[in-house]
Amino acid sequence: MNIVLIGFMGTGKSSVGKLLATRLNLVYFSTDNRIVELTGKSINEIFELYGEPYFRELERKVIEDISSKTSYVIDTGGGCVLDEKNIVNLRKNGYIINLRVRLEVIIDRLKEYQDRPLLKGEKEKKIKSLLKSREKYYDNADFFIDTSNLNIEDIVTVIEKRLGQLNNKK
Ligand code: S3P
Repeated sequence: MNIVLIGFMGTGKSSVGKLLATRLNLVYFSTDNRIVELTGKSINEIFELYGEPYFRELERKVIEDISSKTSYVIDTGGGCVLDEKNIVNLRKNGYIINLRVRLEVIIDRLKEYQDRPLLKGEKEKKIKSLLKSREKYYDNADFFIDTSNLNIEDIVTVIEKRLGQLNNKK
């Protein structure tokens, strides 16, 4: 199986994904990193040069490809949930976990970052409206964890426990 992390920007998917992969002896895979590798361009550049639809197309292909494999922790971009095909693909071989963080924590974490093309300009306003429009998509996960008050180690421990419970139920 794969473990798939979905969630809004700034919820800790990458840091959690790396540690989770080490702990579970799986391979860490970031869809954004793969897209950067394939294009030789940063995420910002891809959005600027080719636009969001092109990025989403690449994201869809990368997800389709990695979903056919197993033993990965897949760290997805925050917007992949918008395309139902992605969720269908990711679910084939994976448990989907949604990392959540309180709004004020997300705003605080993303304050300094300039590498999120969708947040250029009025950052706080954009975070609020994107988050609101995406909440229902993040609900598609097998379970969610509110990580607002947890450090990376604790989040990974909680995930391991939850996965253990899921496996016991089977
Ligand atoms: C996006 C999130 C980003 C990246 C791109 C679009 C989104 O990934 O895929 O900037 O639509 O929410 P992170 O969630 O890792 O920041």
